[in-house]
Amino acid sequence: MNTREMFKRAVAGGYAIPAFNFNTMEQMQAIVQAAVETKSPVIMQVSKGARNYANATILRYMAEGAVAYAKELGCEHPEIVLHLDHGDSFELCKDCIDMGFSSVMYDGSSLPYEENIRISRQVVEYAHKYDVTVECELGVLAGVEDEVVAEESHYTKPEEVIDFATRTGCDSLAISIGTSHGAYKFKPEQCTRDPKTGKLVPPPLAFDVLAEIEKKLPGFPIVLHGSSSVPQDEVDTINKFGGNLPDAVGIPEEQLRKASKSAVCKINIDSDSRLAMTAAIRQYLAEHPDHFDPRQYLKPARENMKKMYIHKIVNVLGSDGKLAQC
Ligand code: G3H
Ligand code: 13P
Ligand code: ZN
Repeated sequence: MNTREMFKRAVAGGYAIPAFNFNTMEQMQAIVQAAVETKSPVIMQVSKGARNYANATILRYMAEGAVAYAKELGCEHPEIVLHLDHGDSFELCKDCIDMGFSSVMYDGSSLPYEENIRISRQVVEYAHKYDVTVECELGVLAGVEDEVVAEESHYTKPEEVIDFATRTGCDSLAISIGTSHGAYKFKPEQCTRDPKTGKLVPPPLAFDVLAEIEKKLPGFPIVLHGSSSVPQDEVDTINKFGGNLPDAVGIPEEQLRKASKSAVCKINIDSDSRLAMTAAIRQYLAEHPDHFDPRQYLKPARENMKKMYIHKIVNVLGSDGKLAQC
């Protein structure tokens, strides 16, 4: 299904839909199990990097398998969106739409304003012919990943959002209010240190900018990227069993909880899944040096990701029990 009705209900109900990235079968299984057990709608998203890693056709059929798997697990009416994350060209978006994606993001946030509008509009016109919903982005998130690179963030300008949403015709808008991609969302000098634990405390999100945007576009679906919380217990496990992630820091969950109650109706989480998977695998292999069957270490990795997804759904985004029909 596309995101239209899902977002309408989320905005009205004061919760957010989880958008979890997947690249592997274990991530897909953990996402579906978590969504079914909590009776939550879910967006399964695929980046350009995921398509390069796993193969676009395989991921598309895995998503179709996810719907069948949810039904097999006892959920008669699952609500699962297959979404392209950070599409960087009209051609990539078109390819996903032609393949059967129900939602795409065109990310022209690094382009000049008029160019972002022009290509966003082109994607929206094509997508809407097939009832595919489109997320566009205004404002720049900091962070460095395979396909998403920006040194500095620039908050979304509230004075631009009406013009942008109207001229592009987009169905949802990703904004920049201080989140960023990856496990190092803030430099230590941007944070304070908790004197008791010595851990970094990040600066708060720009809720004033979010409020201004909501005032300009009442009820319009807003999306937050870069919303992993970088759980310290997972970072500590990784570091204890041979990893090296000093001063990794994410977005505090209370802030995401607060954002979920506003017009923010989609929250993107990828790095936390990577951390949960890596922590479980590192611990398992360190404790079982004689094991070499991938199923042995991928099983606890899948369990750990599932636990994290359920926690986000229930305690952070509040999308549990929100299926239209069970
Ligand atoms: O925002 C980007 C997602 O975390 C996907 O990252 O491009 O490394 O797959 P990726
Ligand atoms: P994180 O790196 O914070 O998980 O953000 C993921 C994201 O925004 C995917 O588009
Ligand atoms: Zn993102």
